[in-house]
Amino acid sequence: MAGRRDGLLMRGGSGGSSFRGSPIAFAIGVGILFGCVFAFLFPRGLFALPAAARRANMSIRSLQISSFPCESPERINMLKTELATLSEKNAELKEQVRKLSMKIQLSEQGKDQAEKQFLTLASQHKAGPFGAVKGLRTNPTVLPDESVNPRLSKILEKVALQKELIVALANSNVREMLEVWFENIKRVGIPNYLVIALDDETESLCKSKDVPVYRRPPDNRIDSVGKIGTNHAVSGLKFQILREFLQLGYSVLLSDIDIVYLQNPFDHLHRDSDVESMSDGHNNMTAYGYNDVFDEPSMGWARYAHTMRIWVYNSGFFYIRPTLAAIELLDRVAYRLSHESRSWDQAVFNEELFFPSHPGYDGLHAAKRTMDIYLFMNSKMLFKTVRKDAQLQKLKPVIIHVNYHPDKLPRMKAIVEFYVGGKQNALDPFPDGS
Ligand SMILES: *[C@@H]1O[C@H](CO)[C@@H](O)[C@H](O)[C@H]1NC(C)=O
Ligand SMILES: *[C@@H]1O[C@H](CO)[C@@H](O)[C@H](O)[C@H]1NC(C)=O
Repeated sequence: MAGRRDGLLMRGGSGGSSFRGSPIAFAIGVGILFGCVFAFLFPRGLFALPAAARRANMSIRSLQISSFPCESPERINMLKTELATLSEKNAELKEQVRKLSMKIQLSEQGKDQAEKQFLTLASQHKAGPFGAVKGLRTNPTVLPDESVNPRLSKILEKVALQKELIVALANSNVREMLEVWFENIKRVGIPNYLVIALDDETESLCKSKDVPVYRRPPDNRIDSVGKIGTNHAVSGLKFQILREFLQLGYSVLLSDIDIVYLQNPFDHLHRDSDVESMSDGHNNMTAYGYNDVFDEPSMGWARYAHTMRIWVYNSGFFYIRPTLAAIELLDRVAYRLSHESRSWDQAVFNEELFFPSHPGYDGLHAAKRTMDIYLFMNSKMLFKTVRKDAQLQKLKPVIIHVNYHPDKLPRMKAIVEFYVGGKQNALDPFPDGS
C-alpha cells in the first residue's frame, strides 16, 4: 500500500501531458481499484489491520457456524448506519468547537474581567438548597504544550506518575543534604522524583546514585546564580524553572533539600487547590489562620479591631497544579524577584497568594490549602512541641522540613535515627531553637 502511494507521488511530478493510454494511467487505475477493494475490506483503515483481520476471521467463522448464505449486504448496511452516526457526531463536535471559539473571541473582546471568567466557565447553574452550594476551587488544568521543552517532556514521561512528581533544585553546596534527601526518598519507595542539577558535580553525583536528574540547557542568567548561589538566590530560580513543568501539564511537589521523607507524600495530598503548601505555623491557630484582636483603648466603645492572621506558607515545600492561576502565581513571583533586589522569595510568594485586589492592584485568584502540620511538619513543630509530647511522638509524619534551624544536616540525620532507626534519644542533643 505504501509502495503504491509512493509510486503515485513520484509519477504525479512527471506524468501530466502523456496521461491517456500510458502505462502510468494504467498503473493509477490499478491503484484506485486496489484502493476500493481495501476500503471495502478495511473500512477503518490500514492501521486497524490486526483488528480488521480478527473481524474478517470472525466473519469467516460465523459464516461456517451459522452458514448465512451471504453476509455482505447486511454488513454494508451496518457500516452505512455506523458511518451516518459518526458523521452526525462529527457535525455536533464541529458545532461545539465553533460555539466555543465564538465564546473565546467574545471573551477576548469583553472589557469586564468578571464577564471573561463567566464565559470560560461554560454553563450557568441555579444555586442549590441551603448547605448544598460550593464555589469553584479546583481550576481546570492547562492543555499541555510539549513544544516548551521537548527534552524535559521526554524525561517527565518516564519519571512522573499520574502526571505528578517531586522536583528539587540542587547545587554542590548542598551535596551531603542531597544524599540524605534522596536516600530517604528511595527508602520510602517513591519513584516519581527529579533533581534539577545546577552544576556538573551534582549531575554526576545523581547519575552515580541512580537518581533521576535533569540538567537545564545553559542559561547564563540562571546558571551563574545556580553555581555560586546562596540558598535564597537558588529559591528565586525555582519559580522560573517550575513554569515549564506546569506548561508541560505536570503537577509538581516542589521540595527543598533540607527535608526528610518518612512516607510517600502523594498518598496524603488533596489536589483540590492551585497551591497546597506546608505551613511555617507552629500550632493549629498559626498554621490555619485566626482572628487576632487589635486593642486600641483610646477608641473606647470601638477599642477592639479584628484582624486576620496566618503564618506564611513555606515556599520550600508545596504542591502546585498546572492551572492558569498557578502559572500566574509563578510569573508574578518571578517578576517581582527579578525587579526587587531585596525581597525574600517566601514573603513575595505569600503576598501574591494572599493579598486581595484593591485600588491599583489586581490580586491573584488562586485556590489554596494548608497542609496538615502534623503530617507535613516543620522543625519548629518537631523540636519545640512534638518531641516533648508522648502522644505526638507516636505520630508518623510524612515529611519533616528542617527549615527553622541552621544546623540542618545533623538534625536531618537525627530525625532519621529517631523515626527510622527507633533511637528514642536521637533528638535530645538539639536545643529548641538555634
Ligand atoms: C483466526 O482464528 C483462528 C482459529 O479460530 C486463530 O487461531 C487465529 O489466531 C485467528 N487469527 C486472527 C488474526 O485473529
Ligand atoms: C488541631 O487540629 C486537629 C485537626 O483539626 C485536631 O485533631 C487537633 O486536636 C487540634 N489540636 C489542638 C491542640 O487543638
